[in-house]
Amino acid sequence: MAGSFIVFEGGEGAGKSTQEALLAQWLQSQGRTVVRTREPGGTPAGEAIRTVLLSNEYTGLTDRAEALLFAAARGEHAAQVIRPALDAGSIVVCDRYLDSSVAYQGYGRDLGADYVRDLSLWATRNLVPDLTVLLDVDPQVGLSRVQSPDRLESEPIEYHQRVRQAFIEIAAADPGRYLVIDASQDKDAIAEQIQTRVATLLGMSR
Ligand code: TYD
Repeated sequence: MAGSFIVFEGGEGAGKSTQEALLAQWLQSQGRTVVRTREPGGTPAGEAIRTVLLSNEYTGLTDRAEALLFAAARGEHAAQVIRPALDAGSIVVCDRYLDSSVAYQGYGRDLGADYVRDLSLWATRNLVPDLTVLLDVDPQVGLSRVQSPDRLESEPIEYHQRVRQAFIEIAAADPGRYLVIDASQDKDAIAEQIQTRVATLLGMSR
């Protein structure tokens, strides 16, 4: 039996990690086997790449090197963690995936959405999520929740606004595979909307 691949996307401080954890707990309470993971990271090499990508030590990293490193980490992650878990029938819940690269590198860094998407599709042998939950928040609000900004969080507000707009466009182009949520709502209300959609995806009775 093949599993299901669910991804959380959104800007900084949108509450992805909180909602990812709530969904995973709920699925487990329904007797489902859940594998929780995140990007960049999720494998030993991926976590090492994450350190390079987020460290304020590497402020001069070129945009293309940045895009390649995210794709490299993602290729490792897909091959070593996500695909094996899906093949075993698990539900994989992942904090960020391919659309983060399209939004942050493709649009944010202006590298071209198609190039960046194709790079990740090549790296992952075309592994795409069954459902992506987009938590949409005004970057002013999201960034104000960030305690110690990393390299990407330190980018100017205009960059984060481009990223937000990109996520909204990506989701609008393929509504069957996206759930867009206003992340300024109460956390339990958001969790409920996510559960309803995931229950439909998995054919669960509620
Ligand atoms: P994340 O760990 O989700 O940080 P946070 O919890 O603060 O949102 O993501 C790390 C950063 O990496 C975040 O600023 C988004 C960025 N990112 C990209 O630019 N491209 C990508 O492909 C991914 C996965 C993340």
